[in-house]
Amino acid sequence: MTTLEKTEAESLQAVSPRVVYLNEYKKPDYQLDSVELRFELDETCTRVYSRLIFRRAPEADAQAPLKLDGSHLELRSLKLNGETLKPDSYMLDDEQLLIQNLPKNFELEVGTHINPQANTALEGLYLSSGMFCTQCEAEGFRRITYFPDRPDVMSRYSVTVVADKQKYPVLLSNGNKQDAGELDDGRHWVRWQDPSLKPSYLFALVAGDLASREDSFTTMSGRKVSLQLFTEAENIHKCEHALMSLKQAMKWDEDTYGREYDLDVYMIVAVNDFNMGAMENKGLNVFNASCVLASSETATDQDYYRIQSIIAHEYFHNWSGNRVTCRDWFQLSLKEGFTVFRDQTFSADLNSPAVQRIDDVNVLRAHQFSEDAGPMAHPVRPDHYIEISNFYTVTVYNKGAEVVRMLCNILGREGFRKGTDLYFSRHDGQAVTTDDFVKAMEDANTVDLNQFRNWYSQAGTPELVINENYNADARLYSLTIRQHCPPTPGQVEKKPYHIPLAMGLIGINGKALSSILENTKANTAKPEHMLALTKPEQHWTFSGVDEKPVLSLGRGFTAPVKILLPYDNEALAFLFAHDPDEFNRWDAGQKLAINIMLKLIDDYHTGKDLRLEASFIEAYRLTLNNKDLDKALVAQALSLPSESYLADQCEIVDVDAIHKVREFIRQQLAESLADDWLRVYEENDVNATYHFSAQDMAQRSLKNLCLSYLLEQDNGKHRQRCLSQFQNSDNMTDVLAALSIFNQHDMAERQQALDAFYDKWQHDRQVVEKWFSIQAGSSLAGALKRVQTLMRHPVFSIKNPNLVRSLIGRFCAANPVNFHLSDGSGYRYLADQVLALDGLNPQIAARLLQSLSRWRRFDTMRQILMREQLERIAGHPGLSKDVYEIASRSLEG
Ligand code: BES
Ligand code: ZN
Repeated sequence: MTTLEKTEAESLQAVSPRVVYLNEYKKPDYQLDSVELRFELDETCTRVYSRLIFRRAPEADAQAPLKLDGSHLELRSLKLNGETLKPDSYMLDDEQLLIQNLPKNFELEVGTHINPQANTALEGLYLSSGMFCTQCEAEGFRRITYFPDRPDVMSRYSVTVVADKQKYPVLLSNGNKQDAGELDDGRHWVRWQDPSLKPSYLFALVAGDLASREDSFTTMSGRKVSLQLFTEAENIHKCEHALMSLKQAMKWDEDTYGREYDLDVYMIVAVNDFNMGAMENKGLNVFNASCVLASSETATDQDYYRIQSIIAHEYFHNWSGNRVTCRDWFQLSLKEGFTVFRDQTFSADLNSPAVQRIDDVNVLRAHQFSEDAGPMAHPVRPDHYIEISNFYTVTVYNKGAEVVRMLCNILGREGFRKGTDLYFSRHDGQAVTTDDFVKAMEDANTVDLNQFRNWYSQAGTPELVINENYNADARLYSLTIRQHCPPTPGQVEKKPYHIPLAMGLIGINGKALSSILENTKANTAKPEHMLALTKPEQHWTFSGVDEKPVLSLGRGFTAPVKILLPYDNEALAFLFAHDPDEFNRWDAGQKLAINIMLKLIDDYHTGKDLRLEASFIEAYRLTLNNKDLDKALVAQALSLPSESYLADQCEIVDVDAIHKVREFIRQQLAESLADDWLRVYEENDVNATYHFSAQDMAQRSLKNLCLSYLLEQDNGKHRQRCLSQFQNSDNMTDVLAALSIFNQHDMAERQQALDAFYDKWQHDRQVVEKWFSIQAGSSLAGALKRVQTLMRHPVFSIKNPNLVRSLIGRFCAANPVNFHLSDGSGYRYLADQVLALDGLNPQIAARLLQSLSRWRRFDTMRQILMREQLERIAGHPGLSKDVYEIASRSLEG
């Protein structure tokens, strides 16, 4: 075996890792005709045998070597066409196996040993609560065996799993069970055959002592599919909701996209240790237990909602991701952006469309806009990376979904469906690019989407500046919009975007005004128009406008842009009360709240007394008492913008001022509307059995919002109310709402409730995660100390991603006043955890570190403290690529 000597250049690479570029993409030289795998499972030494049939690509050079990826592997045997390969005919290092002098067609047999127990990164094959499971996306398969671990190598797999029968009675892999048997040493085996073409990242294997729930679904062509959900026996009563959601998703994809499931069995496994939420492995999804298991006593409405959408998301990948997959990882949004759009539409169709849309936009504004404005900004289709795991971002996912939504808005639902039909039929079984997706949209609709492609290649959030004019004599209204996209790292100048913008005009009495959009083909008066903004500056004229209108622009949030409306608080309050578009009505309320908050932050800085405008309180009173509105919308409308979104609107972020002002407004609203909060609370406090439905959820969310305002008042009766809800509710939504409210107040009930909650639920790890998370999110003083104490709690383990996210992640990302303590203790704590985690689980460490990336947004003193910790991390020897990339970009950007 030739172990390559490290040259100086290569050891330098160990310090600054290799960057992968989109424009260096090359097709693979060898394609794989078939894959046969045999796993002999053992906790510390699993043996993996593979038999791979390769074929040289027609356009490849005859001398081309075969490059196989591999890491954390022990190579035990290597045969080419049945003959053991001599050490001088291949090269091996800790990332690659390179084989030269190969015939056109050949068979390769590789034997490797791996150690699942030592695998704390949770990529490849690992152990979770005594069961074996795998996670291969994006580049985890290379931790299982030497393999062309890239998504444009698709093949058919046959997999034999061998394991101790007592410990691992259930043995699963992708596809259909073909055969099974027993060995005479107490082991048994199962052979799985997957008839579909798949890339290595969709491979999965699970082995364990698992219970299962079964159901079935009959597809539109009449095939009966068996649905199976596997979990530890103690959780078997928590499977119902996921199975129901799966059937809803299967039906919806048939109805909405004409897409049918293709295998005879669809399996889902719940695991306790998982880096992400869930994974769409072909026919064998693996789910983070917290994203699939639910019972009304242990899961909240939010959990139910999320489970429904994530089950759907992974199911939808069967077409958008699996049958049509990505050519390379720069194309990640091809499957993730599109699939998020699909799951958002699904949730909207099954629940409340306006509520779903508002949630989508909240995520985008609070997280994606800020990513776009910071050192990690990147296009929906990134063009370089060091570690691909760092690019599973809100930009690739959520902005990617908005880009697909814009296509749908531009082409209309029918045109969009024509486009997806063509895309799926043209590329079934292929690994393609985001450009192929846009091309299918163009070809199916004979339109030119060339300018639209800028959405994929340019980073940053475009800003729209609006000017308007009304000519009463001519009954003409005119609108001028300028677009501009601020520079992002590596991209200073931006080309203009193609932006679809839905708009309408509203009359003084709150009624929609019809108008004719001049210079368009359809010359009829309409209450709503879809504008196509394509130039840096563009002008529209509307005729037949009977009175001076109020503009409602960007209805339904048709494009991921910032709209700078020239409106004062009065106009915003008018839109908040009257806009016929539910989304824009909510949005006007948010903009109004932001204006008021920014003004109060100013007052706070200049030492003025804080005072809340009566008109704002009045606007809230009207909304709270508006019986025509969906209750969930009322609850959303009366929720103030988050501290983090508010922070993004500030020149220099002052976390304390933001927190103080937000609390001040909540106080004022609580007192001024005291009777209203109480009345609406009582009206909605109906003690019915728990039911997951849009209506019931809406009622609970409004009730619990009222309760949170009630507790802002110093009133023993309200405390009693909250305590009684905490003690007597039989559903986790209401219990957790009460507990979360106590958690933000320094009162005796707080610790009592936290203790009682733990006592009752200590046996249920998903509930215990909530218990950690709540405490990490308390804005009361001393949170860091409490978090550090909780890290020593016997249940806490830094090896479990859910616990790390609940405790450390929540503290650093969602407790600004405590994390940003002016002595820098929060930053030091974070850096300590990142360094401790980096040796165990680099993906989780890198995610955590992102809380420091926007350090330039803070005051000089905090900038220095944050940068100090970033530098401390960056200077640490032996960093993972994951953490290195985030630390170095944060320091450069
Ligand atoms: N393919 C991803 C899971 C994944 C991401 C695995 C990165 C490995 C690395 C899956 O389809 C996904 O996107 N899951 C999301 C949830 C979804 C509802 C957005 C997740 O896990 O957060
Ligand atoms: Zn996904």
